[in-house]
Amino acid sequence: MPEEKYIVETVNLVKRFGDVVALKGVNFKVRVNEIVGLVGDNGAGKSTLVKILAGVYAPTEGEIIIKGQRFKRLTPRKAYELGIVLVHQERTLSENHTIWRNIFMGRELTGPLGFLKISEMRERAQKLLKEIGLKAIPPDFPVKYLSGGYKQGVQITRALCFEADLVILDEPTIQLSLAEVQRVLEYVRELKKRGKSSIFISHNIYHVYPVADKFVILDRGRIVGEFLKKDLTPDDLSHIMISIARTGRVPPEYREINLISS
Ligand SMILES: Nc1ncnc2c1ncn2[C@@H]1O[C@H](COP(=O)(O)OP(=O)(O)OP(=O)(O)O)[C@@H](O)[C@H]1O
Ligand SMILES: [Mg+2]
Repeated sequence: MPEEKYIVETVNLVKRFGDVVALKGVNFKVRVNEIVGLVGDNGAGKSTLVKILAGVYAPTEGEIIIKGQRFKRLTPRKAYELGIVLVHQERTLSENHTIWRNIFMGRELTGPLGFLKISEMRERAQKLLKEIGLKAIPPDFPVKYLSGGYKQGVQITRALCFEADLVILDEPTIQLSLAEVQRVLEYVRELKKRGKSSIFISHNIYHVYPVADKFVILDRGRIVGEFLKKDLTPDDLSHIMISIARTGRVPPEYREINLISS
């Protein structure tokens, strides 16, 4: 099989919700082993875009290309089979179950007679938790007693356990303490070390800046900016975002390094 440069690509993606046009022809690309920081104001279309990639929504127009295969739409199952995992803005863990149960939920390991391979699941969960730096917590711990940062960690461990190639994090740092934010950023770095790709959505550019390789800026359903981290400081990015919110445009002094030509 030829090696694909991009793990995912969209071609002229349009999404309408009745009269609202959430995406207006979006061409978005993520490279293999790249972390993309997807930023933009409230209602810009960030969650809509990643939900299309995860098969939650069908696009109104356009195409999705994953590992070289073209699709008019995906389903959550298809996206998962293709190695795409979305860690939701809304939490998706089962609060009353243990960590290991949550990691394997819906994809439990079973023996030939359908019995659950409990000790194997616990061991695998423990190994992965340790690798991602959650070693202090036993896999039998109920999820409801974990802090927000640890819950994010469990969700990311879950994605890793299924060999996801692209892990999408929609606002993973919202409502987290400073220490927890740092922990989530560590998980994202761990994904990168393992050769995975990631899309990291955040309102806080100081959360997304340290981990992202590239920034894609959505504004009212359009990609208006795409910058490599090496070309920008966090303050530059902040300045660009403020300017886009005010004027809808990337300031002229940044146009040369903008990979989207306007
Ligand atoms: N299920 C839906 N039904 C109707 N309209 C929707 C739906 N989902 C999103 N929208 C609309 O689409 C637009 C884009 O919303 P989206 O949630 O993708 O933005 P976002 O960039 O993720 O914003 P935020 O930063 O607030 O999470 C908004 O105008 C929103 O109201
Ligand atoms: Mg959103």
